Order: sequence, then C-alpha cells, then structure tokens
Amino acid sequence: MAPEVLAVLDWVCNQFAPFPGARSRLVTEPAKSVFKGIIGGFGKIKDAPAFIAFIGDMDDSFVQEEVGYTGEGIVLEATALGLNTCWVAGFFRPEIVASLIEVSKKEQVLAITPVGYARECKSWEEKLMTGFGRSHNRLALSKLARGLPTEQWPDWVNVSLEAARRAPSAVNRQPWSFEVQDDGITVLVRTRVPEFNVSKRLDCGIAMLHMEVAAADCGCKGEWEFLPSPQVAKFKIRS
Ligand SMILES: Cc1cc2nc3c(=O)[nH]c(=O)nc-3n(C[C@H](O)[C@H](O)[C@H](O)COP(=O)(O)O)c2cc1C
Repeated sequence: MAPEVLAVLDWVCNQFAPFPGARSRLVTEPAKSVFKGIIGGFGKIKDAPAFIAFIGDMDDSFVQEEVGYTGEGIVLEATALGLNTCWVAGFFRPEIVASLIEVSKKEQVLAITPVGYARECKSWEEKLMTGFGRSHNRLALSKLARGLPTEQWPDWVNVSLEAARRAPSAVNRQPWSFEVQDDGITVLVRTRVPEFNVSKRLDCGIAMLHMEVAAADCGCKGEWEFLPSPQVAKFKIRS
C-alpha cells in the first residue's frame, strides 16, 4: 500500500472522532496474527498489510453506538481511497491488538478492520462461506420502518433510510428499525435479533452514520440525541 495512502488514512483515523467514547488507530503491521481462524463475511482475511482498531471507552453509556458510527465513517473514507475493508468484531484477538497500540484500563478494542486490496476472484470455499451472497442481502424498508406513512416522507427520509438499510452488520443481522417522525428519525434495536457477543447498538451506530451522510447529501443537517434501550438515538433535523 502506498505510503501516501496510509498517511491519509492515519490522518482520517486521528481526525474523525466526533464522540468522546470512541477512537480509531491505524496499525501498519501485517494483521495476520490478529485474526482468529476462518471468518465469514468476505471469506478469509489473508495478507492484509494494515488494520484499524476501533476502541471504546467502556465508562461511556453510549460507547457501542459511538464506536459503530465512528468506525463506519473511517471505513467509508478508506473505501473512498480505493481500499477494501471488513468489520471484524467476533473473530480477532483483542490482546494482540492491545499489545500493538496503547489501550487504557477503561478502554476496550471492540472491533477491527483489515485494510488493503481484496483479491478480485472468490474461491469456491469463499462462495460457500458467504452462502452464495445470502449474507449480503438486506431487509425491505417496509419491514423496518414505522411512524409517518411512506407517502408523507420527504425526499431526505427516503434517501437516508435507504442508506441506513444497506449498512453492514455483524452476521448481517440488520438489528435496526426506524421510526419516522415530523422532525426526524429514531433508530431502535429490533429486540428479537440475536446478540452473538457483538452489541446490536454497535451495528445501529453504523446505520446512524449512513443515515446522516445520506441526509447531508440531500442538504439536510441535524443532530443526534442518544436514547435509552431499546431506542438508540434520534436524528433531529435542524429547522
Ligand atoms: C460489527 C460487525 C462485525 C462483523 N464481524 C465480522 C466477523 O467477525 N467476521 C466476518 O467475516 N465478517 C464480519 N462482519 C461482516 C458482516 O458479516 C457483513 O457486513 C454482513 O454479512 C453483510 O455483508 P456485506 O456488508 O458484504 O453486504 C461484521 C460486520 C459488522 C458490521
């Protein structure tokens, strides 16, 4: 990977830290020993030249959604730089990551992503592991959204919910639902979806980032208010 690409990515990791409870660090060591065995979403992760650690302050009440939101901002920037990534929250060795970066007592590495250039052609083994694409399907908005009737949604709501719906999540469980109100959208956890040792609120933080970026693209700015479970946060548009 070109040093100038790494330098930009490092800058992005240091700059994009919108919440006190989440930060990211680029580690330019081959990520081999960090990944545990075989992992599923993209097949195997091999030979990644670097990885990014997503670190949470466990004393922060909203740490999971903050890490999801922050990490996805960085993942999208890496993608814009032409890099490939894959969120990994289950199958990695946090103790090895913690030996490569400074992590304080109250912090925890909640997830990582390898960064590099993915092989174009998937092997049969990889196709089998991803269920021939099933792990990439997404639920329809009609199953996820409630509140204001669809016919009354302004354009920004359509675009933002479509972007949120397409967000990645652990084992593709899509643990979110959305309540559309006159002044914004509330993200909620769908309680029947399994936890699998990775917080569903972290996934919801990823969807929040997608929602806000899409809204901004429609010229619509707003603020997040974090909310208690099973709600996650409300995106309140600025009037
Ligand atoms: C928080 C989080 C954790 C994930 N953990 C893993 C993992 O441990 N191993 C893996 O192969 N994929 C992991 N993934 C990738 C998901 O399996 C993948 O995003 C999902 O199946 C949807 O696929 P797509 O994003 O390619 O459409 C994770 C994704 C997220 C958002």
